Amino acid sequence: MLTSAANDLQFNLGLLYMRGILNLNGPSYVYICNCNAIRERDVRHAIDCGAATPKAVFAHCGARPQCAKCVCEMREMIDEQQQIRSIAAE
Ligand code: FES
Repeated sequence: MLTSAANDLQFNLGLLYMRGILNLNGPSYVYICNCNAIRERDVRHAIDCGAATPKAVFAHCGARPQCAKCVCEMREMIDEQQQIRSIAAE
């Protein structure tokens, strides 16, 4: 039998999965930044290593923004990861 905290965590993880925030199929190989060939898994790794801004993601990947079309998506990924961390910390 799950405790109340475990039930809450399971419920919140379910919400994240349904919203497409939590990917249970592992890191994606989709390119987020076409100019620098930065993949989704590279961005997630940078975030896991502490990158909290797109600028930090670029720095972690040893790249520099060019067209900046990917910045919004990087920001969304950073926000999603922060949501997951805050829910997991509850
Ligand atoms: S797509 Fe990332 S800088 Fe152009």
